Amino acid sequence: MGWNTWNSFACSMNESVILEAAERIVSLGFKDLGYDYVVLDDCWSAGRNATGYLVPDAQKFPKGIADVADKIHSMGLKIGIYSSAGTMTCARYTGSLGYEEKDAAAWASWGIDYLKYDNCYNQGEEGTPKLSFDRYNAMGKALNATGRPILYSMCNWGVDGPWNFATTIANSWRTSGDLINVWDRPDVNCPCSELDGIDCKLPGYHCSIMNVVDKAAYYPSKAYSGAWNDLDMLEVGNGGLTDDEAISHFSLWAALKSPLLMTNVMTQIDSATLSILQNTAVLAVSQDPEASSAVRIWRYFVNGGEIQMYSGPLSGGDQVVVLLNSSPMPRDMNATLTDIFWDDGAEGTASQLQSAWEVYDLWAGRMNNGTAEGIIRGGNNASRPIDMAKLGGASKVYSQVPLPA
Ligand code: GLA
Repeated sequence: MGWNTWNSFACSMNESVILEAAERIVSLGFKDLGYDYVVLDDCWSAGRNATGYLVPDAQKFPKGIADVADKIHSMGLKIGIYSSAGTMTCARYTGSLGYEEKDAAAWASWGIDYLKYDNCYNQGEEGTPKLSFDRYNAMGKALNATGRPILYSMCNWGVDGPWNFATTIANSWRTSGDLINVWDRPDVNCPCSELDGIDCKLPGYHCSIMNVVDKAAYYPSKAYSGAWNDLDMLEVGNGGLTDDEAISHFSLWAALKSPLLMTNVMTQIDSATLSILQNTAVLAVSQDPEASSAVRIWRYFVNGGEIQMYSGPLSGGDQVVVLLNSSPMPRDMNATLTDIFWDDGAEGTASQLQSAWEVYDLWAGRMNNGTAEGIIRGGNNASRPIDMAKLGGASKVYSQVPLPA
């Protein structure tokens, strides 16, 4: 969980943008909720020095990046940086291909805690899982060799199926092209998935929220604690989405166990955005130690859109269920226990089906024992995640977040 410069600032990032965001992350309470990585995306460097080490842009970072890292650390936060497994980054700054050890050593010496490692200008070293693995493994090994714990976030947009080859070398991998703040739109171009059988090599593809969810819905079970599907940064707070859409987006990212990286302008955050990003009950689903992603159980095409249901285990025997209504009309939706526990194995399933359950609506902040009926009222791309706990278990306290109008 954290914040990244890219979607709001792109190459206009600099020391004051970053420190100002970091201060807000602390003062608005984000840090205490677990949003603790502050990530400098593309455009921070000024190339290499005579000995081949990357140097920060002196205009953007007059005192260097180690100084920014110190300040971020003194706020109780962690700092991330960005490069590409290619000769250039996507914005055509210097890349790290062939310089993995030097770059990892420099970042470690500056106090970096996180690397986002992109896929631009990779010299054609992709197209098979082995080529992608070798290129990304080189940086993973270099990071490990520094001896500093550095979270390794692979950003290769789903190319060559990172959910198959990256689990042992990275902490997360992007599953598709870049997410934009659009719920869904037929002309949005999001081809970066092996499932589409389309060339994923070109950068800059833009995916709607429904595009990204659709791609991620096919391979959730490959992820586990410490190796996560990254559905890309959160567009919550960046305009373009209704509150219902932002709630659905955030709920799905939480249930599918994607990293939660904000990328909004922290100094202009409004109260609706705050209440979405700070819903502690939904954050508890995201950060649940069970850490397995919910899976899509069903989807139906209905007039003007579709309805979908996701279900996944939480720790303590709870289960998260998401009912997604991505159609223009409000609808009542039902999820039966047979749907919810489809995958539990014969014996387990029988006991789940015979149990009585407490049902908790994570956005309404209220219990509704035995049935979710009456809770799921959304239309216009609304979704509601529900936490189900077996009756008789320990009772839980969740924050009370008002149901949006
Ligand atoms: C790629 C990545 C983005 C961002 C930009 C920076 O498009 O997918 O998230 O890092 O590069 O240039």
